[in-house]
Amino acid sequence: MAAGTGGASGSEPLAGRVVVVGITGGIAAYKAVEVVSRLRRLGAEVHVVMTRAAARFVTPLTLQTISGNPVVTGLFSRVTRWNVEHVALAERADLLLVVPATANVVGKVAAGIADDFLTTTIMACRAPVVFCPSMNFRMYENPVFQANMARLTELGYHFIPPETGWLAEGTVGVGRLPDPARIVAEVVHLLQGDLSGRRVLVTAGPTREMIDPVRFISNPSSGKMGYALARAARARGAEVILVSGPTALAAPGGVELVRVESAEEMYRAVMERLPGVDLVLKAAAVGDWRPRRTHPTKVKKEGRTAWVLELEPTPDILAEVGRRKGKTVVVGFAAETEVSEPEVRAKMARKNVDLLVVNDVTRAEAGFASDRNQVTLFWPDGTREDLPLMTKEELAHRILDRVKPLLDRVKAPPGRREAAPGPVQAPPEIRRGE
Ligand SMILES: Cc1cc2nc3c(=O)[nH]c(=O)nc-3n(C[C@H](O)[C@H](O)[C@H](O)COP(=O)(O)O)c2cc1C
Repeated sequence: MAAGTGGASGSEPLAGRVVVVGITGGIAAYKAVEVVSRLRRLGAEVHVVMTRAAARFVTPLTLQTISGNPVVTGLFSRVTRWNVEHVALAERADLLLVVPATANVVGKVAAGIADDFLTTTIMACRAPVVFCPSMNFRMYENPVFQANMARLTELGYHFIPPETGWLAEGTVGVGRLPDPARIVAEVVHLLQGDLSGRRVLVTAGPTREMIDPVRFISNPSSGKMGYALARAARARGAEVILVSGPTALAAPGGVELVRVESAEEMYRAVMERLPGVDLVLKAAAVGDWRPRRTHPTKVKKEGRTAWVLELEPTPDILAEVGRRKGKTVVVGFAAETEVSEPEVRAKMARKNVDLLVVNDVTRAEAGFASDRNQVTLFWPDGTREDLPLMTKEELAHRILDRVKPLLDRVKAPPGRREAAPGPVQAPPEIRRGE
């Protein structure tokens, strides 16, 4: 993904940004010409990819002229001016806009099909992907299409919903492509997201500590809070790394997902990626105890009436992040069964965090595995904020809203480059877990 330049001039808010526009075979394809033209006028570098069906509705020559760049139409076609590969284009994109998006392309992406240049580019793209669906209202309301859209939304893809109005078939219904000016306004908003240019590391899910190859110690964390944070940060323009313990959740789109199992693996994954990170959101429920010994083979039940396991603490990831953090803003999460403010404050000081998000997991309708959560935010200056019950998605945004001023105190390096991954160090002397 190209580095965000941010702060471009008012007349050219998209200067230096690369937008890939995918055009598919819908009747509204002609409106994509206006979208491309507007994006260019705002300073964006625009590359157009058309499906074979799209080229039946509007000519590649028109789009080439308007975008000022060669237009890619087929997976195996070679572009004359520069050698575009789907991966190269996907890497350069700051945003990929599919306008109009047919029911067909949404279905293909939801099913993981990559059989042409556009779908392979979408598959390889880490930048935000925005679909502008437009179709007959019966197609739009079809539960298969709705389910595909819901799945992609859950994965972090964006949708600009169609409007209700006069459709090409001569009827009124939902499915009409919004005005090009509105579509471009959404693109500008996404590219100027308030976390644009920031690198955010999120941890999520439980950890697993193996007793033997068929048994482990874990906890009921579903990972939903961490995944919601990763999606929210991504939607606000951040570059997101999600270090996740085992969960049943789909990988959010546009996010670098690092899967781990044990607390020690999570420790290593986090420490390796910490350099260059602006914000750490440590929402994982890291197991704080592990068996002192993992049996290499299954421990037989026969002949035993009891089994005493000896446990030892796991590496304390949050405390170590707090120690190494420098200017990185660190948000810790604590799941408690009784919330005692003095204990919370002591924990904050011990871990050197900038904000501690505490939830009482005994509350019905909140905490582990739930889609909703109710938390209290504790700040190092002694203040606290009790938030009402809300969805984890809403809470993720609320937390990011609160953290944003702290990030603003630490300016992102202009045109930041990839930070070299730091060397993985062995966990420090093991202390009591979180
Ligand atoms: C005249 C005409 C208009 C069409 N309009 C739409 C449309 O607005 N939306 C849509 O989803 N499909 C529409 N289709 C169907 C798509 O063109 C068809 O599903 C095609 O396979 C899409 O290919 P693509 O997604 O690779 O571009 C239309 C087809 C025709 C012949």
